[in-house]
Amino acid sequence: MIVVPGSSNRLFAFKLSKQINAKYVETEISEFPDGEVHIKIPRDVKKEDVVVVQSLAVRPNDYLMEFLIICDALRGKGCNNICAVLPYMAYARQDNEFTPGEAISLLGVSRIIQEFCDEVITVDLHLHRYNRITELFRKGKNVSAMPLLGSYLARFNLDNPMVIGPDRESAQWAKQISAIFGNDYQVFTKMRHSPEDVSIRGEIDVRNRDVIVCDDIISTGGTMSEIIKVLKKGGAKRVIAACTHALLAGNAVTRIYGSGAEDLVGTDTVPSEITRVSAVPAVAEVFL
Ligand code: R5P
Repeated sequence: MIVVPGSSNRLFAFKLSKQINAKYVETEISEFPDGEVHIKIPRDVKKEDVVVVQSLAVRPNDYLMEFLIICDALRGKGCNNICAVLPYMAYARQDNEFTPGEAISLLGVSRIIQEFCDEVITVDLHLHRYNRITELFRKGKNVSAMPLLGSYLARFNLDNPMVIGPDRESAQWAKQISAIFGNDYQVFTKMRHSPEDVSIRGEIDVRNRDVIVCDDIISTGGTMSEIIKVLKKGGAKRVIAACTHALLAGNAVTRIYGSGAEDLVGTDTVPSEITRVSAVPAVAEVFL
């Protein structure tokens, strides 16, 4: 088996190759003057099982195109099975026609990806209106980085910590982290008014407790900062914000710290300034 990276997250691909005992094959990726991508796989891949690793975050459209061309080139060169490891799957939040006329991008993008590979592995895929990854791909597996995040957070010596999620959908993640502490978890109700603006409803007693707020994605930081304000007002002591995918659009980091977070922790599914935990072991387990 060989591991072939796109340019979005080479370190993730490299670490994965080590953990699953596969050969890491570096790709040469550059841009033509007109903006088109140029890709070279400088090795024979005939009859090899290939794992292509690409995080579709930050520049989703560019990285998607790289991914498709890499897969197509591998097929053309006679490889065997192509397993796509997409630590962050783009467009997963556009899973519905929220206002009339909108494209359900998740469906279109999944269909395109499926045409180019045989199976897909994702991490904490934003499964809200679709419950299973196999509703999107013929063959797929979604793993979670939450136990790894939870183990990391256990080092913080938190006082009787409660784990909180922003909405009903986040209960699955809050539950996994709270299991590490053997403590309780609860979720708020979230209303989204615009891509940057949300409001939070719910009464959760956090007086004199440390709190971990967890979510799959932090994008603009609007969700986290609104929750942290509510928690601080409600008497929470230390508040730690944690997520798998730190997209960190605009001023998300200062927005979250500015609302009263003591710390902000993310994983390497999307490399960022808050990457503290590697999700590679969760993906590696699928191959072992
Ligand atoms: C949405 O349902 C997700 O789980 C996250 O809560 C959302 O993507 C966070 O976005 P933002 O940081 O922009 O509030």
